[in-house]
Amino acid sequence: MAGCRLWVSLLLAAALACAATALWPWPQYIQIYHRRYTLYPNNFQFRYHADSAAQAGCVVLDEAFRRYRNLLFGSGSWPRPNFARRHPMLGKNVLVVAVITAECNEFPNLESVENCLETFSQLVWKSAEGTFFINKTKIEDFPRFRHRGILLDTSRHYLPLSTILDTLDVMAYNKFNVFHWHLVDDSSFPYKQEASRPRDTPQEMWNWVVGAKALSLCAVSHSPCFVAEKPLEKSSLEELGVPGLLTPCYSGPHPSGTFGPVNPSLNSTYDFMSTFFLEISSVFPDFYLHLGGDEVDFTCWRSNPSIQAFMKKKGFDDFKQLESFYIQTLLDIVSDYDKGYVVWQEVFDNKVKIRPDTIIQVWREEAPVAYMKEVEQITKAGFRALLSAPWYLNRVTYGPDWKDMYKVEPLAFHGTTEQKDLVIGGEACMWGEYVDSTNLVPRLWPRAGAIAERLWSSNLTTNMDFAFRRLSHFRCELLRRGVQAEPISVGYCEQEFEQS
Ligand SMILES: *[C@@H]1O[C@H](CO)[C@@H](O)[C@H](O)[C@H]1NC(C)=O
Ligand SMILES: *[C@@H]1O[C@H](CO)[C@@H](O)[C@H](O)[C@H]1NC(C)=O
Ligand SMILES: *[C@@H]1O[C@H](CO)[C@@H](O)[C@H](O)[C@H]1NC(C)=O
Repeated sequence: MAGCRLWVSLLLAAALACAATALWPWPQYIQIYHRRYTLYPNNFQFRYHADSAAQAGCVVLDEAFRRYRNLLFGSGSWPRPNFARRHPMLGKNVLVVAVITAECNEFPNLESVENCLETFSQLVWKSAEGTFFINKTKIEDFPRFRHRGILLDTSRHYLPLSTILDTLDVMAYNKFNVFHWHLVDDSSFPYKQEASRPRDTPQEMWNWVVGAKALSLCAVSHSPCFVAEKPLEKSSLEELGVPGLLTPCYSGPHPSGTFGPVNPSLNSTYDFMSTFFLEISSVFPDFYLHLGGDEVDFTCWRSNPSIQAFMKKKGFDDFKQLESFYIQTLLDIVSDYDKGYVVWQEVFDNKVKIRPDTIIQVWREEAPVAYMKEVEQITKAGFRALLSAPWYLNRVTYGPDWKDMYKVEPLAFHGTTEQKDLVIGGEACMWGEYVDSTNLVPRLWPRAGAIAERLWSSNLTTNMDFAFRRLSHFRCELLRRGVQAEPISVGYCEQEFEQS
């Protein structure tokens, strides 16, 4: 991925101390000069450089220019600039954008342009009188890790589409680039698959709406967003009309009427999964599918006589072997669809045979080994790793718990340079058991920002005081942009006075 290969005619440049401290995440290289320019909101323009690979009419960028103009100056009208003043030469009213590496339609390459616009917007500052300034600044920037994700869970609670779309915007402010949609789980299956019988209850209409929007979401995020499935777990699939898919649980010799994980002993299960994942592969155009594979509860399988018989036939004496058999068969099916896949670490821990290009997501903090040791083992085996274990944002503790997440060093394990290169990044996870649209935003922001900076900035950007000052400012900037980000300490934001 290209990073910030955008040539900005940094006539502009950056801001005074207050603006520079608002930069989040911190750039790889930055030099701010003591020379400031005035920006006149009325006249200010974004323009394409004559040599830019993308030109006017590139809808994505035209739209981004409009969005950032609004973010910077609001959409209201402004007093005419006073050109009679003594130093009119110091005004800068054009941001020239030259896209070097990407043509307009090459997603997700334009992401780097958006990142540059975001940085630019964070460099603009406003005096007490309300004049906008930008200091001369030189920046070279690129992400340290290429995969910087946020996981949202829409299975434990409903999240309105607008909430998801708003989250994508704030992700962009933080330079996150991957939306991991944990769409379904055992609590609910809010995806209407064509592979099962269609239903038309209000609940399912809602399911359908969420499913259908997936495509446009990926387009909006400009990211390799992918979908997480956990088909092993029990769910409302049975009710949705896929009889026989889930394992009937037994109470003594009789079925208890409840269902457990997917029934791995039936051929029909794999027929269904084959159709289902084929559909998923086309609904979600992204390269990566997340196949899940974590935390399977074996109780129901254990109670079922036909599962026991199947295990005997296969010579399995451990339910982990049965789970591995299922995952293995599923991976073989999905391999035919020209998709890459991501799995949770259990699939690796249980020694399932996986393709060498599989990405393994590390989520367990301590078991079977400490998470950094797990990353070491995964990369030693030659697989790519994705770190999530220290970044569960759904867990909240009293105090500035973003600091612990900020201090994580994703490459702090013993290993070769090749091994370190296999760590492609990380994901902040927001599991939904206790989170819905009432509390998602303040729980996510600005805490997720700590992870955003860890994944973007240099490994030398570790000063806690510096981070605290900038994150406090950034949180105020989020408030200004209408994001209900929670405070990270005692204090106030300027605009809180303007509003009252
Ligand atoms: C921006 O420029 C002003 C003077 O024009 C200077 O006082 C301020 O320190 C500069 N900001 C930074 C971060 O250097
Ligand atoms: C399931 O498929 C396998 C392999 O195709 C076959 O050997 C087996 O007999 C099938 N089982 C049933 C119950 O149809
Ligand atoms: C930062 O990363 C570089 C290599 O990219 C490495 O040489 C250096 O030791 C790291 N520094 C710290 C403090 O981790």
